[in-house]
Amino acid sequence: MSEKFSISPNGEKFSLPNPEDYKTEFDNLKKRVEQERKKKREIVVVMGVGFVGAVMAAIVADTVDKKGQPTKFVIGMQRPSARSYWKIPLLNRGVSPVKAEDPEVDPMIERCVKKKKTLIATYTYDVLKLADVVVVDVQCDYIKESLGNVRTGRTDMAALEASLGVIAEHIPASALVLIETTVAPGTTEQVAYPIMKKVFKKRGIKTDPLLAHSYERVMPGRNYVASIRDFWRVCSGINEEAKKRVVKFLNEVLNTEKFPLTVMDRPIESETAKIVENSYRATILAFLNEWSIYAERNGVDLIKVIKAIKVRPTHSNIIFPGPGIGGYCLPKDGGLGVWAYKHILGFEDNIFKITPMAININDTRGLHVGQLTRDALRNMGQPIAAADILILGAAYREDVGDTRYSGSEIIVRKLAEMGAEIRVHDPYVEHWWEFEQQDTYPAIGQTKARFFRNQEKLKEIRIEQNLDKALRGAEAVIFAVPHEAYMKLDPEKVVKTIGQPAAIIDCFGILSDDKIRRYFGLGCEVKGLGRGHIQRIKDELRKG
Ligand SMILES: NC(=O)c1ccc[n+]([C@@H]2O[C@H](COP(=O)([O-])OP(=O)(O)OC[C@H]3O[C@@H](n4cnc5c(N)ncnc54)[C@H](O)[C@@H]3O)[C@@H](O)[C@H]2O)c1
Repeated sequence: MSEKFSISPNGEKFSLPNPEDYKTEFDNLKKRVEQERKKKREIVVVMGVGFVGAVMAAIVADTVDKKGQPTKFVIGMQRPSARSYWKIPLLNRGVSPVKAEDPEVDPMIERCVKKKKTLIATYTYDVLKLADVVVVDVQCDYIKESLGNVRTGRTDMAALEASLGVIAEHIPASALVLIETTVAPGTTEQVAYPIMKKVFKKRGIKTDPLLAHSYERVMPGRNYVASIRDFWRVCSGINEEAKKRVVKFLNEVLNTEKFPLTVMDRPIESETAKIVENSYRATILAFLNEWSIYAERNGVDLIKVIKAIKVRPTHSNIIFPGPGIGGYCLPKDGGLGVWAYKHILGFEDNIFKITPMAININDTRGLHVGQLTRDALRNMGQPIAAADILILGAAYREDVGDTRYSGSEIIVRKLAEMGAEIRVHDPYVEHWWEFEQQDTYPAIGQTKARFFRNQEKLKEIRIEQNLDKALRGAEAVIFAVPHEAYMKLDPEKVVKTIGQPAAIIDCFGILSDDKIRRYFGLGCEVKGLGRGHIQRIKDELRKG
């Protein structure tokens, strides 16, 4: 019996496989693949069944031909690490390893595993020997060494490089390897190709590895599945054969009739497209940070300003930045680009100004919420130290359960530094690992706790799922994420549940002017990011 376990988010314990289990696992896989090949199904191995890989695997497994017959057999492959192994037994039961608000995810995974029988998961790399196509969805992280200075960081390609080596050691020479991971530009041609070519040579394979790149634009949330399947893709291959194969594969598994593919000449162009796409988004968000502060100091409501501008079709994508720009992608992707320019592409000069600055601004925007909370409490005659503060929303955006790089984390850390007591509510998040396991999550030595003082006790943070319970007795309430449940909260009920007037901080333009007035009427103090008109409302009420 193995001593080591992997524990799923809902607390189920799974023993990690023992060395002797691998042979049986592979024998079973071989038999199964043989049967599937007889059904003329292509064998697709998806490496890394995280947020992207798990759903991508299901989409591929759901593929049918014109007669409605499944054309692919998909095997999700996942390292049997203590942190991630649980995803394999869950998937094999037909249970999604990712919590999703999209009602399509759970039934799709269940259907493919249990009914269509086109999806399984395994922990053995040997499965790669059986692949016609390998889809790589492992992470490629960007590690920041300081808060607010992305330039001092670096790309962590260890998981990706290890995966590529392992793939080259196992796959048949004719297998297509599709990298979907967001990578530092140049990675497919200048990192992946040499790693794989070297191994191929050792194996006596004379042909080039069939390497392709096509990045994901997935948005976990209500349209999780559609954001992969029914969405435009950009792709490229390392040579004509790889290009042809990736185009064929993506045409088969995605809805490319409605959402046509864009095929680039070289992988570096596809890789760059992803980085520019996300740097652009990070930049238009960061740019509003200075106008948000301007608005607060000059009686201007930035929310209304944005609404007014948005009607102009050329400016329709202007969006209000909340207390930080989180998610796995926007905080890191520009960093991958800036890093690659020097460390993969070999340039020494410093051409990047806007891209790193945007990330730095976004990474530190949440700090200002500490000041607003401090000032609101002070206006109520209370110090922030030892104040009971409730954060509404831990996720990085509305109606998702993903907390990675959320603005709320910075808010909590800053408030703790200022001596506040923190409680948190989020209807979509069960565990906030960034705090609960801050010594080891996201990895040892990488917690954002290291950029703040007084962080030790934050390990005790537990997400309260009952909103009433969370509200009771709070001295400040921070609307940090516009989850649906918070949009409709009624000020009278909120204050009644709290049991006293409180400081109310709006980080996302959640409160209407009417609600702001009502909170003031109930004896609360209100402040908001980019919402300078709140002071005007307060003055009017005082005069009236
Ligand atoms: N999450 C998003 O919203 C999103 C959107 C667009 C693009 N992306 C990109 O997609 C990629 C994957 O992101 P994610 O959110 O799915 O990450 P994730 O961390 O949720 O998943 C990665 C998975 O790969 C596994 N893994 C790592 N090394 C492995 C190995 N050697 N063999 C097998 N499995 C291994 C990990 O255990 C993990 O389960 C990233 O490059 C990311 O930037 C993510």
